[in-house]
Amino acid sequence: VKITVSKKEIEYKFEANSGERVLYAGLRQGLGLPHECATGTCGSCKARLKSGELKQLWPDAPGAKSCKSSKNEFLMCQNTAQSDCEVSFRGKLADQLESGYLPNYYEGRVVDANYLTADVIRILVEFEQVVPFRAGQFVVVNVEGLEGGRAYSMVNCAGGTTLEFIVKQLPEGGFSSWLFDSPRLNSKLSIFGALGNATLGADEGKDILCITGGSGIAGIIALLTQAVDDNYFDKNTGHLFFGIKAEQDLFFRDRLVALVEKSNRKLQVTITFSMGDIPKFDYAGKEDINYLSGNVTPVAMQQMSGQLQDNLVFLAGPPGMVDDAIRRLVIDAAFPVHNIRYDKFG
Ligand SMILES: Cc1cc2nc3c(=O)[nH]c(=O)nc-3n(C[C@H](O)[C@H](O)[C@H](O)COP(=O)(O)OP(=O)(O)OC[C@H]3O[C@@H](n4cnc5c(N)ncnc54)[C@H](O)[C@@H]3O)c2cc1C
Ligand code: FES
Repeated sequence: VKITVSKKEIEYKFEANSGERVLYAGLRQGLGLPHECATGTCGSCKARLKSGELKQLWPDAPGAKSCKSSKNEFLMCQNTAQSDCEVSFRGKLADQLESGYLPNYYEGRVVDANYLTADVIRILVEFEQVVPFRAGQFVVVNVEGLEGGRAYSMVNCAGGTTLEFIVKQLPEGGFSSWLFDSPRLNSKLSIFGALGNATLGADEGKDILCITGGSGIAGIIALLTQAVDDNYFDKNTGHLFFGIKAEQDLFFRDRLVALVEKSNRKLQVTITFSMGDIPKFDYAGKEDINYLSGNVTPVAMQQMSGQLQDNLVFLAGPPGMVDDAIRRLVIDAAFPVHNIRYDKFG
């Protein structure tokens, strides 16, 4: 079926395959349709149907709450076209996808899985083809028997045939149950992606500040690994604040220490513990990482006080954490919103 998008009197046309989500069809063909989560929660892909017929895949999607049926509003990521359709929307239409890679569909299978903590699993998924992406991007993962896709950020920093993910267990969550209830080695996964613009160009020339909580570290590790590989820290500094609850929730400490060392300590890492005391680690004589008590965002704001303005800020983690960080940066610290890039994990 044919979809026509009208924007400021210009028309863009693209084909959608049978059963394909309107958003994915447009993105796949290089049209920069507005979106954030691509999975029905954020509402940023809201559009208006001017003619044609759609099928809603998830009527209860949280992002659809702001869609007025009286105005024929719908979520492009949660609807497929049943006939040729004409749509319009308020958001910005990017000329082309900023990442430079067109997203597509890929089939893979889980080749490795291990627990990093009691409720975080790391999986490796192997694909027959190279999946191209930029450090900091994510894909939408689908598994058989589970309604709807889930977004997961790649820990790897560049495209390849094996992608690494970390998944934090959400009690009674659909994908969490699929992954945590039984060993999933050799299980098939299909993905759509890569998506997301929380990426860093090699020559952006700004210091970077990353604030993240829990599994939000996935895409941030990718981004910082890329920065180290690009020698980004020869000319700029980096600060990472990684928030977890307590010692038993800590993972990837070794990877973070390695990044600090490879950056010649131009990257500084602080791990914050929101509950209990700061645990004692075996420093082996080196204090590569700082450890502080408190919630990650207030700690980061306090530590960065007076040195925020020249940074590009990356935020990743639970929506509450990301929204709070944006509020503190923009409202409390008058930080320019266009220098903030984020992924809200919900
Ligand atoms: C950009 C982005 C990157 C993310 N990266 C990571 C990551 O690296 N690691 C990580 O642990 N988490 C990540 N998340 C969160 C992740 O996508 C899931 O929300 C989380 O793992 C919980 O999934 P669940 O299936 O266990 O929970 P559920 O509550 O079952 O589902 C959570 C999400 O799945 C979708 N969904 C649920 N039910 C339906 C349905 N019936 N039809 C269609 N869709 C449905 C919705 O988007 C919902 O918010 C990311 C989220 C986003 C938006
Ligand atoms: S992109 Fe469609 S609801 Fe988030």
